[in-house]
Amino acid sequence: MFILILGAPGSGKGTQGKILAERLGLPKITTGDLLRKAMQDGTPLGLEARKYYDEGKLVPDSIILNMIKDELVRPDAKDGAILDGFPRTAAQAELVDRTLGERGQRLNHILLLDVTEEELVRRLRARAQVEGRTDDSPEAVATRLQVYQRDTAPLIAHYAQRGIVHRVPGTGTVDQIAGEIKRIIGR
Ligand code: AP5
Ligand code: MG
Repeated sequence: MFILILGAPGSGKGTQGKILAERLGLPKITTGDLLRKAMQDGTPLGLEARKYYDEGKLVPDSIILNMIKDELVRPDAKDGAILDGFPRTAAQAELVDRTLGERGQRLNHILLLDVTEEELVRRLRARAQVEGRTDDSPEAVATRLQVYQRDTAPLIAHYAQRGIVHRVPGTGTVDQIAGEIKRIIGR
């Protein structure tokens, strides 16, 4: 089973994705974590990604498409995975659809975490104090929110045509939201 967790920056994709992956015994694939690791390790990919990441811009598809391809063919993801943070553009969605389609698979559920912008900003501001993620600066957060609306939110309509989008109220406790997700996907 392939499940995409979709939502704006700070909506809880990482938090809920982890809970869901553990419950279903599936790997969680997170492009943001892969980029943070590459930046930390100082690889060529990491150095290139940083030019965009720190400002809250999307890392170009020329980099991300290869990353997604490699991740989807991971042996541990052959029967399913939780996708966190991708697909995020039309080209990424096309690649995911095609790669899964070639194996007779598809995205089964899309969980859209619905959180007000006010709450998103509050959460990311709080995290900036504690973790210091480089893209949690006020300027980068503003860019990330705009980029989400412009480049990623249109994917909702793309997938809604297939009837696989579930809107999840993303405010409440972490446990309440996890319970709602469990109810929606039925396991
Ligand atoms: P990415 O790492 O994907 O970040 P994001 O989408 O901006 O989202 P976050 O990780 O900040 O938030 P989240 O939704 O995971 O929420 P979380 O659970 O952490 O991407 C970062 C960057 O990498 C992009 O800007 C881009 O540059 C690049 N990138 C990544 N993927 C890419 C791609 N596919 N293509 C191109 N570029 C890409 O929760 C947020 C906070 O809220 C936490 O502190 C958490 O503890 C708290 N929280 C969670 N749930 C609750 C709750 N119910 N109540 C209160 N607080 C809560
Ligand atoms: Mg995240």
